[in-house]
Amino acid sequence: MASATSAASATSTTSASASLAPSSESLAPASSKKGKYSGRGARDRYREDLVNRVEAKLPQKRFFRQRAHANPFSDHQLDYPVSPDQMDWSPYYPAYFARTRGLPEPIDITTDPNEDMGAEAVALKKTGIVDIVDIGCGFGGLLVELGPKFSNSVILGMEIRTSVTNYVTERIHALRIQHKGQGLYQNISVIRANAMKFLPNFFQKGQLAKMFFCFPDPHFKARKHKARIISSTLASEYAYVLKPGGIVYTITDVEDLHMWMAEHFNGHELFERLTPEELAEDECVAIMATATEEGKKVERNKGEKFTACFRRLPDPEW
Ligand SMILES: C[S@@+](CC[C@H](N)C(=O)[O-])C[C@H]1O[C@@H](n2cnc3c(N)ncnc32)[C@H](O)[C@@H]1O
Repeated sequence: MASATSAASATSTTSASASLAPSSESLAPASSKKGKYSGRGARDRYREDLVNRVEAKLPQKRFFRQRAHANPFSDHQLDYPVSPDQMDWSPYYPAYFARTRGLPEPIDITTDPNEDMGAEAVALKKTGIVDIVDIGCGFGGLLVELGPKFSNSVILGMEIRTSVTNYVTERIHALRIQHKGQGLYQNISVIRANAMKFLPNFFQKGQLAKMFFCFPDPHFKARKHKARIISSTLASEYAYVLKPGGIVYTITDVEDLHMWMAEHFNGHELFERLTPEELAEDECVAIMATATEEGKKVERNKGEKFTACFRRLPDPEW
């Protein structure tokens, strides 16, 4: 990793390493506003207990709230590998990747099972690489929905906000415990990252099959447009990490942002827009409209949703 803190430790109060071993303490009920989890330091106490829990309780969002926008241009002290082959995915997907840093190739668990996961790991099918990414995954609704449906894929959420990343880490951790022995949710994880930076440090050229941009921050004002997660430069970067035939999925409730995203992908020589017929056939289109927390909010408020998807074209001949 190229910065001071390690990727796994970036989620400091949590453990991305899916430490499934139960400890002696359990998480006391936190439903009451009074008691242990109220008043000063409640958030820290709650999170500390969560790390040490035995029970597979899902985390409570109220202890992980953070201001809505993180500035993608500020220095977030983020970690990133110097190149994709230096990325150690094992703390994120212990059932899929051997626990050794800097392996050139992940070990195939179907022939060389990860000891600690035993039969559970062997039962999993895998691609051996992260191949689906949810950019700005927020509270992780899409990851949780896609995980069991795409059990042959390894799915990663990239989220810039620390607290929100911690929430998703805990959510996945709890789901893995709840479904222990079934291998479910082993193929989803989250990393704190600024997706506008260093994407090629995480992924090889042509590694990804799908990239999701669900309800990205709209950055309404013209002077803030540069903070939008889609731009011509970034579209080139997304084309680099996507394989030919790979799909970019976008959805938003802000029409102006929808037009902006469509304009930037349509205008890029390595992307073509999917037809309405193709959208209707792709189950991910329907999933992303309803699975994410923002999508649910738009639904509750009876807002409109705008979808556009783009196929990564083959590289032109030189
Ligand atoms: C409006 S929320 C949508 C969250 C989620 N996709 C959903 O639909 O519920 C946008 C999310 O993108 C994250 N985000 C914004 N810029 C980002 C960046 N450069 N890299 C990673 N995440 C980012 C924000 O922190 C926020 O959680």
